[in-house]
Amino acid sequence: MALRFVCDGELVALDSVAPGDTVLDFLRARPGRTGTKEGCGEGDCGACTVLVGTPVAGEERLVWRAVNACIQFLPMLHGKAVLTVNGLGDQLTPLQQTMACNGASQCGFCTPGFVMSLHGRAIGAVGADLPVGDVLAGNLCRCTGYGPLLEAGERHPALPHDDRATLDLLRQAATAGPACGHATLPGGSTARWFIPDNADALATLLAQYPGARIVAGATDVGLWVTKKLVDLDTVIFVGDVPELNALAESPDGLTIGGAVRYADAHAALSRLSPELGELVRRIGGLQVRNAGTIGGNIANGSPIGDGPPALIALGATLTLRSARGRRTMPLEDFFLAYGKQDRASDEFVECLFVPRPQGPDIVHMSKLSKRFDSDISAVCGAFWLRVEQGTITAARVAFGGMAATPRRAAQTEAALIGAPFDEATMAAAAAAIRADFAPLSDVRGSAAYRLEAAGNLVWRLWHQAQGQAVRVQEVVHG
Ligand SMILES: Cc1cc2nc3c(=O)[nH]c(=O)nc-3n(C[C@H](O)[C@H](O)[C@H](O)COP(=O)(O)OP(=O)(O)OC[C@H]3O[C@@H](n4cnc5c(N)ncnc54)[C@H](O)[C@@H]3O)c2cc1C
Ligand code: FES
Ligand code: FES
Repeated sequence: MALRFVCDGELVALDSVAPGDTVLDFLRARPGRTGTKEGCGEGDCGACTVLVGTPVAGEERLVWRAVNACIQFLPMLHGKAVLTVNGLGDQLTPLQQTMACNGASQCGFCTPGFVMSLHGRAIGAVGADLPVGDVLAGNLCRCTGYGPLLEAGERHPALPHDDRATLDLLRQAATAGPACGHATLPGGSTARWFIPDNADALATLLAQYPGARIVAGATDVGLWVTKKLVDLDTVIFVGDVPELNALAESPDGLTIGGAVRYADAHAALSRLSPELGELVRRIGGLQVRNAGTIGGNIANGSPIGDGPPALIALGATLTLRSARGRRTMPLEDFFLAYGKQDRASDEFVECLFVPRPQGPDIVHMSKLSKRFDSDISAVCGAFWLRVEQGTITAARVAFGGMAATPRRAAQTEAALIGAPFDEATMAAAAAAIRADFAPLSDVRGSAAYRLEAAGNLVWRLWHQAQGQAVRVQEVVHG
């Protein structure tokens, strides 16, 4: 079956598409679509920002999101629309006029990306309610043009937007059932991809192709292709499987489907724990949070992922599913060793349950990175303490960046549980971090910095709990 999508108002049908073909490469090779630029090729600079519109079932509208075309795979566009800077037309839009008149357009590499991020905000794309600074955090300008850019974004009102013609085209192109395709790779082998339309079909496909690579938002896998030059052979795209996109809030907690994107979960996560909401706001830029999923962050098993320590501290459980059934485990048990997770090749992350913190609970989360926005953690520390009548009756402490996997701090927890919530206990807990971890030195921070900083986070928790102002913006010098 051909891959079908709408590109700047034109229906596109492609017969031979490999799963690792990127949206950016497609655009750059298409006549008249080279306005979208390639900068970093790894989701960091935003030069390649495009808007992707997904039809909403039963409604006459598309949900638009700004994403990085360099790390989105072409099959992920199936049944959707992509709007590029060229698709805005030959005449400047009022937003572009404002940018031009405001000195907010400096060079031809970054400007198309800034235009698309701000255009998304102006048409009500996901994240349009955020401050302009948050919307542009994933667009880098190396010539310090941020002042006029922020001003242009603040100044500009909503733009009118009509999706009817695009929806008509998508309806013409629609086909029932799951989508799939294949292509011959340069070495002669065949690469194939599948887009299951429900979780049962996904389980069946994984039983049939147990070695298949699952791709949700591609914000990790995309870099394997663009930076490590990995050829993907069999890929199952799960980003739009409806059951995996479910989000259910209850008084007990939050159930998050395995393919829920950060941007879609952000409000519910903030209601569950404002500290978690703030942490998620600092994961990548908006383009990364619009594509990346919490399930992908966990399944990837990175020792420096921000989701796992936070969710472990909150007591999350993970449910894996396959055609053989389901199993549920405490999230920390999923991470076995560096690069090794407790997932069989036919299993997928179905969902995650995060208990809601209760009245006497103290939650603290800190991400230490070289840059405040859009950066990877050197250390990410997360604390959950239950304090009853001045005594810590339960505690979960977890860190990223301190070991080969995201891990609980057993000795630190032991120093906390059963002790009074006071400065002496904090001192003992901060010291215990050194018994829990022997971190590595790397470009993000030295081992000594990591140990010192992790201990200091115990004190930050203490000062926060005393109601003292805690400086949120931190920079790593270690
Ligand atoms: C510019 C940039 C900035 C970033 N900043 C941060 C940051 O600040 N903090 C942070 O933690 N991460 C960051 N990341 C990493 C990335 O965005 C996250 O890890 C993200 O959550 C991955 O989700 P995804 O859906 O894109 O995963 P994908 O790339 O689609 O997949 C990642 C891995 O998970 C597997 N997988 C995905 N879904 C499932 C499933 N349902 N079941 C089983 N396996 C599955 C895939 O096979 C793959 O091994 C950043 C990435 C980029 C490009
Ligand atoms: S080229 Fe830099 S984010 Fe895509
Ligand atoms: S606009 Fe390109 S470097 Fe600033």
